Amino acid sequence: MSEHEFDVLVIGAGPGGYVAAIRAAQLGLRTACVERTPTLGGTCLNVGCIPSKALLHTSEEYAHAKTKLARHGVKVSGVELDLDAMMAHKDKVVGALTKGVAGLLENNDVTHLQGHARLTGPGTVAIEGPEPRTVTAGAVVIATGSVSAPLPGVDVDEERIVTSTGALALPEVPARMAVIGAGYIGLEMGSVWSRLGAKVTVIEFLDRVLPGMDSEVATQLHRLLRRQKIAFKLGSKVTGAERTNEGVRLSMEPVAGGDSTTLDVDVVLVAVGRRPNTEGLGLDDLGIALDGQGRIEVNERFETSVPGVYAIGDVIAGPMLAHKAEEEGIAVAEIIAGGSGHVNHATIPGVVYTAPEVATVGQTEEALDDAGVEYTVGRFPFAANGRARAMSVTDGFVKVLADAETDRVLGVHIVGHDAGTLIAEAVTIMEFGGSAEDIARTCHAHPSLNEAVKEAALAVAGRAIHV
Ligand code: NAI
Repeated sequence: MSEHEFDVLVIGAGPGGYVAAIRAAQLGLRTACVERTPTLGGTCLNVGCIPSKALLHTSEEYAHAKTKLARHGVKVSGVELDLDAMMAHKDKVVGALTKGVAGLLENNDVTHLQGHARLTGPGTVAIEGPEPRTVTAGAVVIATGSVSAPLPGVDVDEERIVTSTGALALPEVPARMAVIGAGYIGLEMGSVWSRLGAKVTVIEFLDRVLPGMDSEVATQLHRLLRRQKIAFKLGSKVTGAERTNEGVRLSMEPVAGGDSTTLDVDVVLVAVGRRPNTEGLGLDDLGIALDGQGRIEVNERFETSVPGVYAIGDVIAGPMLAHKAEEEGIAVAEIIAGGSGHVNHATIPGVVYTAPEVATVGQTEEALDDAGVEYTVGRFPFAANGRARAMSVTDGFVKVLADAETDRVLGVHIVGHDAGTLIAEAVTIMEFGGSAEDIARTCHAHPSLNEAVKEAALAVAGRAIHV
């Protein structure tokens, strides 16, 4: 590869891109990473996973201080929200982490190029930015992520009608907020602003929340969020949004047919999904094939239809999740270096950071039913877990799905406190092809929330101890 300036050029410095670049450099490849925005870390660090978790955590602490602590015998008075300070904390976290990525690239001898990259040939990339230049590389990795999907008739201005980016930086708590889409973003950001005092209404096209996730878990979360005073209009289609003096008037109608209604709110969050960010990359000119959903087509080695050009993360098929992109970043670097990188897409966890959290890995009951797979279900409620009782986090349950014949774990679905941490055990077991009995016979610390996972695994064979 020595005739090229770099062995590898990664386009995009999100969790997929910067991880791919670091791994490639670790493997001895001369690596550059080009990013169009001044800060590194992509959507996840700048306007996604990280700032949303800062707001989710702080708003939950606020809600606890107002309601929960007193029940535990801790009296607090004069609890007040300082939204500016809350936002400043979020910005500080984002600033530290994005600078941290710059430091990681530097420490690993990855050349950081700033500007918009466009492929002009298989190993040639033109970079428009502060210092325009053309770079050649033996391998190019496209890791440009995704952008918010638009909703016809609802034009985003990032003030009154916002995407997740605007919803992370509202200057004040809106009295009334509409959230269009009951997916990851809608439920997380709806929770934040609801806890801070907004009257939140979630409008969802389908007749359920969190489509694609296990429906029992989704139904339970829906119930718990309604208890938190979040209103839902399921099976509803937003047909338009009109700016009024006070805010926005949304028009909607039932998907099943019926009269159109309106909803007056101060702020609307559009969270109807994301789409691959492939524009302006020169893909057409190079003949890089896309699939029917606008994603870059790759083979199992992350190679596009053009030799030497690879793609990972949100621009290719699979869940649009930062950790999925990271795994693909590692794998593609190892493949380019002549190794055998691999990602097990069957064991990618998904976590929704509501309160309680939802965490899931593997197959849902619906998917197993559709595939005609015989399976056994073990369930365990957090209400029967001692640690959960001590912490007053008794909502939810763990569900383990195991192959009826072999007992191999096929899926684990959790709604409950810290489910996003608890799911790691299930992911590990599934990665090793383990059985429900493997979990059940593994010693779990007492008292811990993890015991609920063990008890659900015991329940697969009808031998849970504490229910
Ligand atoms: P999503 O795909 O999770 O949910 C979109 C929701 O909008 C779906 O329920 C869909 O049925 C609904 N919808 C679509 N069109 C609609 C319409 N016209 N009217 C009403 N509802 C409509 O997408 P979301 O929440 O925008 O998130 C985008 C991506 O970001 C997801 O793929 C997710 O993986 C990722 N993400 C992950 C997070 C995490 O890991 N905790 C947090 C936030 C985002």
